[in-house]
Amino acid sequence: MAILPIIELPDPRLRLVSEPVSKIDAAIRQLMDDMLETMYDAPGIGLAAIQVAVPKRVLVVDVAREGEEPTPLCVANPEIVWASEEKNIYQEGCLSIPEYYEDVERPEKVRMRYLDRDGKTQEINADGLLATCLQHEIDHLNGVLFIDHLSRLKRERVQKKFVKAARLRSDE
Ligand code: NI
Repeated sequence: MAILPIIELPDPRLRLVSEPVSKIDAAIRQLMDDMLETMYDAPGIGLAAIQVAVPKRVLVVDVAREGEEPTPLCVANPEIVWASEEKNIYQEGCLSIPEYYEDVERPEKVRMRYLDRDGKTQEINADGLLATCLQHEIDHLNGVLFIDHLSRLKRERVQKKFVKAARLRSDE
């Protein structure tokens, strides 16, 4: 396993629409394992492949709290097949937008169909933090960031901040 570098705003690759995985092979399983290790190391509760610069429809999540048994979930080609009318608000963050947190409203419950680490089709019902996390990661596969759910003012403010920080880094 390996810890992979995480790309950050304003890296344009974060805006790519990722490609479906045609088959769960050893390379995809390796990617999933590396992504889990990268996510735990960060630490974070979800990671999409594009965040490690791989434009494939793969994500990993684990919303277990510290001290609880880990509950890693490896997902390829996810599809939300149902979402509740009821909404939930969580304060979200993103490993690609470090140290920025804002409330985002999303459906409270979702049902997701996906391919698991063995290439089997699965469906799960998710609510609470897991539902939010899955929707956040699926957004990444479509080039969407959680800041896109905020007001234009807030989004432009954080975007500018990260563009400026990147410029300062490259000037050093
Ligand atoms: Ni994210």
